[in-house]
Amino acid sequence: MRKKIVIANWKMNHDFYETTSFLRSFLRIIFEKKINHNKEIIIAPSFPFLHISNQILQGTILHVAAQNIHYMEKGSYTGEVSVSMLKSIGIQKVILGHSERREFFYEKNDILLKKIKIALKYGFHIIFCVGETDIERNKNQQFNVVKNQLKETVFHCSLNDIRSFYIAYEPIWAIGTGKTATFEQVQKMHQFIRSLFLEKYGINLSILYGGSINENNAKDFFLQKDIDGGLIGNSSLELEKFIKIVQS
Ligand code: PGA
Repeated sequence: MRKKIVIANWKMNHDFYETTSFLRSFLRIIFEKKINHNKEIIIAPSFPFLHISNQILQGTILHVAAQNIHYMEKGSYTGEVSVSMLKSIGIQKVILGHSERREFFYEKNDILLKKIKIALKYGFHIIFCVGETDIERNKNQQFNVVKNQLKETVFHCSLNDIRSFYIAYEPIWAIGTGKTATFEQVQKMHQFIRSLFLEKYGINLSILYGGSINENNAKDFFLQKDIDGGLIGNSSLELEKFIKIVQS
C-alpha cells in the first residue's frame, strides 16, 4: 500500500493565469527532466480552477485534488461545493481535516466524519490531516491528540474504506511558520500512526509529513523510514522550489 507521494496544497493562492501557466510549465519540466512514475504527484488548486487543472493534467502522471467539500449531497448551502459536483468534473481526491479548516472554519471531528462518509460514498481518495498544537506538544500530549483525531474520524471506517486514505501528519506549530519539526519528532509520530493502522486494520498506509517542508530540507525528511512523502504549502507555489522537492 505504501507509495511515494508529493502533494501541493496551494490553499487560497494562484489565480487562473498562475494556475494554468504553472501546470503547463511543470509538465514540460517533468518531461524534460524525465521525472518518472515511481511517485504520485497531486496538485490541489482552488475550486474555480479544478476543472481546467484536471483538463491540463489529463493523461499525465499528475493528479488533482480539491481542498474541501461539503458534507451534504446538495441543497440550500450557499457558497458550498458538493462532492458530486467535483465528481462531475472528474475530481476524485480531496484534502480533509487540514488544521486551517479546523481552526478558521470550526471543522470538528464530527463534521469531518460526515465529510469522510460522503467522500467515500462517491469513491474519493482522502488525504486526511492530523496534528497537534504547540501547547499540546509542550504538555507531551501529541500522541493522544493525534490518536483521538483518528479515533473520532477515520477509525469509524471499514477495512475496505481505509484503503482510500493517505494520512498527513501536520503539527500545527510547523505549518506556514518556517519552523519544522525535527526528523526525529516526525519519524516518531509517523511510526506511532503507522502502528495504530497496523494494529486496527493490518494495513500499511502512506503517511506524509506537512509543515514548512522546502527544497532544502525535503530530502532529509523523505529519507526517514516512516515518511512516505510530503504535503507542501508555501514551497509548492514556486515552480523551481516544487520541482526540487519532487526530485527529492
Ligand atoms: P506549509 O504548509 O508547507 O506552508 O507549512 C503545509 C500545509 O499546510 O499543508
